[in-house]
Amino acid sequence: MFSPPFLLATFVAILSFLATPSLAVAVARASGSLKLVSGKTFTFRYSTKDKNEKNWIGLYYSSGGGPVNQKQNQDSLVWKYAPYHNGTLELDPKGLSVGTYKAFFLAKDGYQWLADPITVTNAGPAGAVSWLVDSVRLQNARQGSSYRASVRGLVKGGSSVTFSISNGDWAKINNDGVITGTPGSSAKDTTFTVTAKGSDGKTDTVKVTVPVRKSGAKLVENLQVMTYNLWHGGTKVKNYHEKQVRFIATSGADLVGMQETTGGHALRLANALGWYPVQGSSAGIISRYPIEAWSNKLGHGQWARVALDGSKQLLTLFNVHLGYNPYGPYDFCFDKLSVAQTLKNEEKSKRTPQIKATVDAMKTDIARAASVPLLLTGDFNAPSHLDYTPALKSKNCGYDNVPWPTSVYPTNATLTDSFRVAHPDPVKTQGTTWSPIYLKNNNRPEPMDRIDFIYFKGSLSVVDSKTLLVGKPKPEPDHANNEWTSDHRAVMTTFKLK
Ligand SMILES: *[C@@H]1O[C@H](CO)[C@@H](O)[C@H](O)[C@H]1NC(C)=O
Ligand SMILES: *[C@@H]1O[C@H](CO)[C@@H](O)[C@H](O)[C@H]1NC(C)=O
Repeated sequence: MFSPPFLLATFVAILSFLATPSLAVAVARASGSLKLVSGKTFTFRYSTKDKNEKNWIGLYYSSGGGPVNQKQNQDSLVWKYAPYHNGTLELDPKGLSVGTYKAFFLAKDGYQWLADPITVTNAGPAGAVSWLVDSVRLQNARQGSSYRASVRGLVKGGSSVTFSISNGDWAKINNDGVITGTPGSSAKDTTFTVTAKGSDGKTDTVKVTVPVRKSGAKLVENLQVMTYNLWHGGTKVKNYHEKQVRFIATSGADLVGMQETTGGHALRLANALGWYPVQGSSAGIISRYPIEAWSNKLGHGQWARVALDGSKQLLTLFNVHLGYNPYGPYDFCFDKLSVAQTLKNEEKSKRTPQIKATVDAMKTDIARAASVPLLLTGDFNAPSHLDYTPALKSKNCGYDNVPWPTSVYPTNATLTDSFRVAHPDPVKTQGTTWSPIYLKNNNRPEPMDRIDFIYFKGSLSVVDSKTLLVGKPKPEPDHANNEWTSDHRAVMTTFKLK
């Protein structure tokens, strides 16, 4: 609780995501109360019998991070002491993105609840209500199965926003922006218009598509998986929150392994998208479908098991952010080191021990990948041996046949580089991800390489893979107004699940 919004959570969080009502009910009821002062989003009225000068109210993303089990999880985004039997206090919403939050009234600098937490919606700066996107695809539905998806974080502005659906057929929406319903036995992919209306009467609409699967079919057939380095959470670019949400929401991605999420950026984006997060230190995962288990123990990364269709359709994702210094392409292009010296530096950068540890941690999942497909996403901060071929020797500063450990280990462990399945010829499609905006390095050309990867194994196949960015980013240091908020390209692979 002691760090300001968006600063580093210094402990490795055991994350409880999605503080759903059912989780909240599992804890003992508290005797005090916590309410919003009417009409004020961040002003709370509290009361407790257990007055203490160190009682406090803290705000967390509703996607997760709060003390849902009355134990510390992530740092709060903002907080204040609530020292009286009763009183009102206002939290500072500055720096909080549009979306829903959870407020907790907690005892004595600790995490024991003094009241049931409440949900708070931040409409963002005053102004007419508007959607961040024109159209969006939500998670799949199935004939005869109940459905739920949230679009609240995709709208900004307006006060007391209400929602309605037209031509919704089987779907309805409540004023929290939650779409529910059960598609009928003849329902097909459904596109409807959702209107958000502010108290000033102004409205804005978004086209929402829900793919509807046949009854008995598996819920997810094609899965779009992305790896995305946020670049300091995105904070180097103005208005990064809206730009990132727009990018992810319109990319079609279902599952994103992210890097440089330090400070809760995975939680923030999941919150805005109505998705499920795992927040680690640098690495973070967000998923359109529920995450049923996860661990941040790797340190440089994490794994998550995604329940695509309850326990009937599972998938395991490892996501990593490997060490960045020293950087192999600089060793070659700038310092002309030998391959042997550069491989020593790969150890020194920690990338080699980190990829070894990652592959070791994947053993069980590799063995059962035929039943539970396995993915590895990441910013590996090193190229692939598949791209250091004789045909690319001059592009690669005169080096070829380089056994980059970070690609050799996963490959030897029988994982496959999905981008090179879709684009087997590295001359034809280099797939550079580093860097669209760092073009010069002390007046030398920045070496261009593919250092962000999506590996896979098991019962899924590659339909397509591409590198992504938005607009025409201006090179660093003129990047502040770019629509693209990163210094890497993202990579997205479309898989067909068998
Ligand atoms: C608020 O606290 C004051 C001082 O402790 C007490 O006199 C008053 O009854 C309390 N009011 C409510 C509504 O609990
Ligand atoms: C990878 O496999 C190749 C071929 O079997 C082997 O020569 C090499 O030593 C292995 N490398 C590592 C790092 O395990």
